[in-house]
Amino acid sequence: MYTSKISGVGHYVPENVVTNNDLSKLMETNDAWIQERTGIKERRHIKKGDGNSTSVMGVKAAKIALERAKLAPKDIDMIVFATLSPDMYFPGGGVQVQEMMGMRTVPALDVRNQCSGFVYAVSVADQFIKTGMYKHVLVIGAENHSGGLDFTTRGRSVSVIFGDGAGAAVLSRNEGDGGILSTHIHSEGKHKDQLSLQGPSTEHWVPQIIQENDQENIPYYPYMNGQFVFKHAVVRFAEVINEGLKANNLESSEIDMLIPHQANLRISQFIQKKMKLRDDQVFNNIQKYGNTTAASIPIALSEAWEQGKIKDGDLVVLAAFGSGFTWGSAIIRW
Ligand code: UT7
Repeated sequence: MYTSKISGVGHYVPENVVTNNDLSKLMETNDAWIQERTGIKERRHIKKGDGNSTSVMGVKAAKIALERAKLAPKDIDMIVFATLSPDMYFPGGGVQVQEMMGMRTVPALDVRNQCSGFVYAVSVADQFIKTGMYKHVLVIGAENHSGGLDFTTRGRSVSVIFGDGAGAAVLSRNEGDGGILSTHIHSEGKHKDQLSLQGPSTEHWVPQIIQENDQENIPYYPYMNGQFVFKHAVVRFAEVINEGLKANNLESSEIDMLIPHQANLRISQFIQKKMKLRDDQVFNNIQKYGNTTAASIPIALSEAWEQGKIKDGDLVVLAAFGSGFTWGSAIIRW
């Protein structure tokens, strides 16, 4: 059996910076509330006419990851694209990346696991490499949240949190030691309604939405039961990190860099404390980008790598929790 490694990482965020004060002009919110509850200072939003979309940002991040992996688009054997905000209902973002990057007719798979999307996508890519079926798999997490949020006071508990951006990683067959040691993924669908966007879908199709025009209960904006999600997140994050460490006979003290999904700075700090990790063992950039769902881990991974915080031989742990509920971890010897 083969193993895989991450041979290149890259990220892209739109230029348009939206501060907490900018949002306070649109709705009843304020910088103090947002920073205190989430740690977020600003986020990026696509601007009309800037040429960005979920798949376009994914391509921009992927090009950087490929360059760093010293690979060309023709070398890629498969695309796994994680998003909850695709450019269109169908087809998925993966095929758009295949076309925009001029790739061979390689398989393009879209992953629908929200905040855990990137960890799920890494796990899928890892399996294809382990079996020997493929040598290089391009994994992308990209989101355009700003196009679909309620920027009135009604939507403030959700819309101040999310931002746009994309990150990518190339998984390649590992010729040496280490690489991706294991991945661990889970779901618990009984909580599917706690963090969800219900329409447009076959349950709430377009004519129904237009006809009902129910201003109280709008199914085409995301809903989040924040406190319920928070309570489950802190339990599942720690659980799935420990599951990964145990599977590899490792201790949390051996982690060189934990890259948690950037859901909320308070969640990251809670996990850090629970796992007895020092500040330099955990990477956070939610302050600058908000929660970018499937893109948050690859953006953070790429930034941490650029800043020299991830070096050869380091033990890197990715961990995510989100809508579904779904959660997962990846244990990597870089
Ligand atoms: O990435 C996927 C996973 N997602 C998560 O892990 C998110 C988990 N949850 C959270 O991060 C937090 O629950 C939130 C940041 C979403 C909310 O923080 P909270 O401390 O749980 O606040 P809350 O929902 O209990 O709301 C407290 C108050 C409410 O007012 P009242 O009822 O106390 O008068 C809200 O209406 O804050 C109000 N509020 C706001 N005020 C100013 C809600 N949103 C805002 C806002 N600005 N943007």
